[in-house]
Amino acid sequence: MPKLTVVTRSGDESTVDVADGLTVMEAIRDNGFDELLALCGGCCSCATCHVHVDPAYKDKLPELGQDEDDLLDSSDHRDENSRLSCQIPFTPELDGMKVTIAEED
Ligand code: FES
Repeated sequence: MPKLTVVTRSGDESTVDVADGLTVMEAIRDNGFDELLALCGGCCSCATCHVHVDPAYKDKLPELGQDEDDLLDSSDHRDENSRLSCQIPFTPELDGMKVTIAEED
């Protein structure tokens, strides 16, 4: 199974297996990282699933959508590696990617 490494706000790093068909948000949430709130359940309307993505994987990610871009703008912690994790299907080519849960807004 492809693996995703998750870094929490306090810097703890763990690697989880990701089942087929999950988004990065679902993989994080389903593995018990409850600091990722994902309040809207993945319908791109809350921005509480904000993560910073390893820049090495940037080219493998789906393009940033307009709604995602607007929501990320509402965060004080946006940087060039910011994405909403619910908007990233975890495809096998993302195996080994590392994401850091963004600071709380
Ligand atoms: S879970 Fe709400 S925008 Fe991603």
